[in-house]
Amino acid sequence: MREPKTTMKPPEGMERAVYPGSFDPITNGHVDIILRGAKLFPRILVAVLENPKKATLFSTEDRVAFIREIFKDQPQIEVEAFHGLLADFIQDREARVVIRGLRAVSDFEYELQMALMNQQLNPDLETLFMMPSARYTFLSSSLVKEVFALGGSVRGLVPETIEQRLREKFAGQTESSSS
Ligand code: PNS
Repeated sequence: MREPKTTMKPPEGMERAVYPGSFDPITNGHVDIILRGAKLFPRILVAVLENPKKATLFSTEDRVAFIREIFKDQPQIEVEAFHGLLADFIQDREARVVIRGLRAVSDFEYELQMALMNQQLNPDLETLFMMPSARYTFLSSSLVKEVFALGGSVRGLVPETIEQRLREKFAGQTESSSS
C-alpha cells in the first residue's frame, strides 16, 4: 500500500527552494513564479538582496515587509533579506535549489552566467528556471517603476498593496522635490 503523502519527507536540501531577487518592487510576475514554485517544494524562501551599492526605490526592510504582507496567509512562503554571496546564503539555510524566472531569451545569458557561477561556488547547488505565465513575460520591476513614475497604470501588473506603496512613494517624492 502507498504511504500517505504527509509522511513523505523531501530529500535533503529539497525542503525549501530559494527564490532570490531585488524585488524593487515585487511584481505579479514574481508572485506567479513563487506560487508555481510552491507547488513543487514544501517551502519557498524568498531571498531579498540587500546591496548597499545598488540604489533601490524601496529599502530592504520595505521590500521584505511588502512580500511578507502579500503572502501573510501562506506560511509555506518565507521571506528574508540576504547580503553577500547567494551561494553562501543557500548553504547557511541548508537548501540546494535556486529558482529563477526566465521571461525571454534575452534573460538567458545573464541567468546562465549566474547559474554557472553559483554552481562553481557550490557544486551541490542547482538552479531551476521557471517560466511565468505568458501574460507576465514583458514585465519587470524597472518597467513598472518607469511607467508608474510617468503616470501610467500598473493595475494588474503588481499586487494591490504594491500599487498603493508606489502611490505613497511617488507622492512623497513629489512633495519633497517641490519643497
Ligand atoms: O532580481 P535580480 O536583481 O535579477 O536578482 C539578482 C540576484 C539577487 C539573484 C543576484 O544579483 C545575486 O544573487 N546577488 C548576490 C551576490 C552574488 O551571489 N553574486 C554572484 C552570483 S553570480
